[in-house]
Amino acid sequence: MTVSPPSTGTTGPSSGASASSSGAAGPSSGAAMASPGTTAPASGSRAAGSASGAAGPGSETPTPSSGSSAPASESSTPRAGAAAPTDRPDIVDLYLKHIGSGRAVMGRVMGGMAEVRSEGVWIHADDGRRFLDFGGYGVFIMGHRHPAVVEAVHRQIDTHPLASRVFLEPVAARAAQALAAHTPPGLDYVHFVNSGAEATEAALKLARAHGLTSVITTRGGFHGKTLGALSVTANATYQTPFQPLLPDVTQVAYDDPADLEQALAARRDRACVIVEPVQGEGGVRIPRHGYLSQVRALCRAYGALLVVDEIQTGMGRLGTWWGVDAEGVRPDVLLVGKGLSGGVVPVAAMAATAEAYAPFSRDPYLHTSTFGASPIACAAALATVRAMEEEDTVARAAALGLRILTAVRAVCAPYEGGLVREVRGRGLLIGIEFAEEQAVGELLLELISRGVLVNNSLNSTRVLRLTPPAVVEDSALDLFLTTLGAALRSTADRMTS
Ligand SMILES: Cc1ncc(COP(=O)(O)O)c(C=O)c1O
Repeated sequence: MTVSPPSTGTTGPSSGASASSSGAAGPSSGAAMASPGTTAPASGSRAAGSASGAAGPGSETPTPSSGSSAPASESSTPRAGAAAPTDRPDIVDLYLKHIGSGRAVMGRVMGGMAEVRSEGVWIHADDGRRFLDFGGYGVFIMGHRHPAVVEAVHRQIDTHPLASRVFLEPVAARAAQALAAHTPPGLDYVHFVNSGAEATEAALKLARAHGLTSVITTRGGFHGKTLGALSVTANATYQTPFQPLLPDVTQVAYDDPADLEQALAARRDRACVIVEPVQGEGGVRIPRHGYLSQVRALCRAYGALLVVDEIQTGMGRLGTWWGVDAEGVRPDVLLVGKGLSGGVVPVAAMAATAEAYAPFSRDPYLHTSTFGASPIACAAALATVRAMEEEDTVARAAALGLRILTAVRAVCAPYEGGLVREVRGRGLLIGIEFAEEQAVGELLLELISRGVLVNNSLNSTRVLRLTPPAVVEDSALDLFLTTLGAALRSTADRMTS
């Protein structure tokens, strides 16, 4: 397949294909990256592997047990994928017929593999190859299928996976208690939901329940794609097709307390402010130290409700339980997701102070969902928090993050000032900013072809994002760094030739 440059206006790693007419794209966006007619079959794409190939039978990369980390990655499961490679065209066909042409084509561009199994830092494809997962959109801080979480979820399935919602649910109560033991002081109330966007929705509705109808969000901010959450996700590509969104949403500059103050002062009503401690999808934007404290002080001064979205940054991702911990800031509402899953069951949560939570506390029917706080999801959340305590995940993330950041900087150093603009990160959230957005797609596909998965940034087209698990062992890290070096060389050659 010929790799054409990305068309401007796409938001995904579009170098691997021409952009769709919709223009919106990205692995997690679900939008089309290319139209079916414009791409070659998987076997012709760079990400299909072959020569330089992803790790698989006969490859020189380590086996799962040697290359990944204990305890999450050690598995006695056989390596072969569940589906034979010959099933692949069928899967693409099923995607084309029943899920969507854009996703089908994107799958082809990424190499056409279907993922069938995972453990620890590894994802296994149907053709027997395996991929080191340094992406996962920030979900896998504990790796895939953390054994303690898998065990807890199995137990829950065998006893009581879904609740009547009539009686009390002990596992929901224990999970809330376990999470609240780590939230900033005073954020003792927890409302479990099924996704990050639902956590944002819960916070926006909680603000409304307090009579706060206006919301202030930050440029580059990402808070999900359901209609309310999308209203505060500052990305015109995703917003425009769905206008009108929530009214009274103001975007202010990130890391700019003066702009926030101006927006707060301009309002006659009280507002809800939503902010990330580090903008993940915004391209790993790290604000100056003191920004969050200033945001806190401004919200207090103007009577605004402060919602801190830690869906990506929380659960140890930044080397602290929460990004706000770095400044000792206590928000009114904290959003949690991704890592809370333990890499096993989708679950997210909104934590809040008693005062902020009061409307939901008083009326348990005010904001509900049939599957919210299900025993199975809460079993995963509870086991995840306990495993993090037992394995000291937060400290591991801090130490490992520093090592990875230093090493990635060294690998990128020869390209700084040219291909690479900056490498930045905190904990296990690391961004490589390129001079041109084309490099993101090129490098992403180069890495896939060599057996490594990373992510683009949905709100920042020039930034490649690394969100490795805290369970990466030395051998897997070495493999990653060597692969990154080779992929960078190849990308630089391609882009300068
Ligand atoms: C900061 C932040 N908030 C909200 C979300 C939305 O979460 P979900 O995709 O689970 O709906 C994301 C997802 O990437 C995120 O990074």
